[in-house]
Amino acid sequence: MFNSSTSRLAQPAILPDFDRPNGLPVFNTVADAINAYEGDDAIYVLYPKKIAEAANTFVEGFPGKTLYAVKANPHPAVLKILWASGIRAFDVASIREIDLVLSACPDAELYLMHPVKSRKTIRHAYENGVRNFAFDCAAELGKILVETNDAQDLHLHLRLALPTSGSASMPLKGKFGAKYQEALDLLRSARSVTDKLGLCFHVGSQCMDPADYVRALAYAAGLVDDAGVKIDSLDCGGGFPVAYPGMTPPPMADYFARIQKGIKICGFDDLEIIGEPGRALCGEGGSTLTRVELRKGTDLYLNEGSYGSLFDAANCAWKYPVKLHGSKDATEDTIGFRFFGPTCDSLDTMVGPFNLPADISEGDWIEICHLGAYGQALATDFNGFQSDTTVAVLNT
Ligand SMILES: Cc1ncc(COP(=O)(O)O)c(C=O)c1O
Repeated sequence: MFNSSTSRLAQPAILPDFDRPNGLPVFNTVADAINAYEGDDAIYVLYPKKIAEAANTFVEGFPGKTLYAVKANPHPAVLKILWASGIRAFDVASIREIDLVLSACPDAELYLMHPVKSRKTIRHAYENGVRNFAFDCAAELGKILVETNDAQDLHLHLRLALPTSGSASMPLKGKFGAKYQEALDLLRSARSVTDKLGLCFHVGSQCMDPADYVRALAYAAGLVDDAGVKIDSLDCGGGFPVAYPGMTPPPMADYFARIQKGIKICGFDDLEIIGEPGRALCGEGGSTLTRVELRKGTDLYLNEGSYGSLFDAANCAWKYPVKLHGSKDATEDTIGFRFFGPTCDSLDTMVGPFNLPADISEGDWIEICHLGAYGQALATDFNGFQSDTTVAVLNT
């Protein structure tokens, strides 16, 4: 509906030594991107080096196979950067995500880990080579078996409901997962219909305590013992955190070490171990550039808001790190600002406070950092405000 008519980018400098991810315009700095921009909307920035570094952290350190949870940021450039950095498997939830990953990374292995899928999605997935499917109840297991014609080559993953909420800033509770007794029954019945059977769980997004994974592993181990069945894989889900202001998690190495130890203690050493990070792979690798349209005291009216990439800043009051990219030398004195997005809706409010130079004014650009996950991915075109401009920036 509202497409590229307002969003234009002057021909950017092409850097000779950089393999442009997915043909994105590439700039050395954020300031270069802002200077080249002739449109009227926000600009989404990807930092390929940061995404590659995060991928490397998991490829080298996670004690198992790393899937990228595509929902966090489905931009084809992100998928390609991750593929180039050694991520070979992707967690998808829908027909569109399946098609998207296969067009960006044709040799990718896909895991359909959404516990509830339409029959058409299951058929489409199987026809396109997907063999990994999640389920959390007998009805969904039945759907998978029927729609794949009782295929013999499936790897089925039973999603558990965890008994406690843990430390995650965004608990994923209540919607999915089999509770203990149901999980016992499902483990036994699924074991007789598939050669490969695993358990999966999700401790909640932005998990601040590595011990949550250990508790979940112990819970899974108790269940397997009680069910008296052998499993083939254990999927620790996503939840791995990013350091946002006011939320400083332990180093990622602590998560990996605790998980590795938990696997050993639980006797899961000989299983295929899987992780499904979304946020941790791309959160720090993206930001949003937004322009100040008006200042009223400590309120800044921006061209990006909660219906754009700032959903969590509005709905969870998350304080993302901010930087001023102004047209003048800014004062060093900072004060806390509240942000309003561009739509007519009053819910389009990000309370922050976001600390920025006290003399910020109309026309200045603000970089809202660590928005590579669940930022652009959640943006809508509500009220005619949307950005179709994504750039890659080399200097981090
Ligand atoms: C099934 C599944 N896997 C992985 C993820 C990624 O979680 P995170 O971004 O917290 O790592 C999610 C997020 O909702 C999910 O639902």
